[in-house]
Amino acid sequence: MINTTAWNRIRYGLYAPIYDLVADRVFRRARQLALDAVDWQPGMRVLLVGAGTGLDLPWLPRDIEVHATDLSPRMVRRMQARAERLGLDAQCRVMNAEALAYPDAHFDVVIMHLILAVMPHPERGLAEAKRVLRPGGQLCVMDKFQCDERPAGPLRRLLNVATSAVATDITRQARPLLEGGGFAIVLDRPVMLGSLFRALLAHPTEADARTAGSAQ
Ligand SMILES: C[S@@+](CC[C@H](N)C(=O)[O-])C[C@H]1O[C@@H](n2cnc3c(N)ncnc32)[C@H](O)[C@@H]1O
Repeated sequence: MINTTAWNRIRYGLYAPIYDLVADRVFRRARQLALDAVDWQPGMRVLLVGAGTGLDLPWLPRDIEVHATDLSPRMVRRMQARAERLGLDAQCRVMNAEALAYPDAHFDVVIMHLILAVMPHPERGLAEAKRVLRPGGQLCVMDKFQCDERPAGPLRRLLNVATSAVATDITRQARPLLEGGGFAIVLDRPVMLGSLFRALLAHPTEADARTAGSAQ
């Protein structure tokens, strides 16, 4: 299988110069709807995981502390430049979503837009998101998902061999992924192309929140 983290680093480095042409206008409304679902409070510490060129940055409140990460150094350079253009004091760092260099329970909000369907092991990204979220913190997801009621059929799985190599996995199911990762979904709404793209808001489940709290 060609969908590996090493391949993602290479291909997103290649996509970086044209990424905004493809993903800015197309996903603007979807990302705004997803971010609107977050209960924003002044001073919140917020982490964007797999933030790409930083297309979420313009739509974030200004009175929060922003940390934004991505696997690809070329993506991070563009993200940093966008933050500077916007006058944002965002900390932009190259980082693998599977190994976040932040302490436990450090963030109020973690944003994962268009990354869970790209990572070869999304459950590892969610485990890290859960670890760095404080108890009661908010996970904001926007991505494309197979419906939760039934797994992808043979045709979709065949197509997925190609799409996951050059773009994204199209067989992942949001609820099994998030609930299996210890999150309780509080909002789940279609945001683009019928219900292919969905925005979800979730919290670490209570047991997980207690674990994170006691790890301090
Ligand atoms: C489809 S883009 C989405 C970018 C951005 N979140 C957005 O909404 O426009 C996927 C991004 O995930 C990044 N990525 C892929 N695997 C990653 C990983 N393991 N850790 C961190 N970033 C990753 C890629 O470099 C790319 O920038």
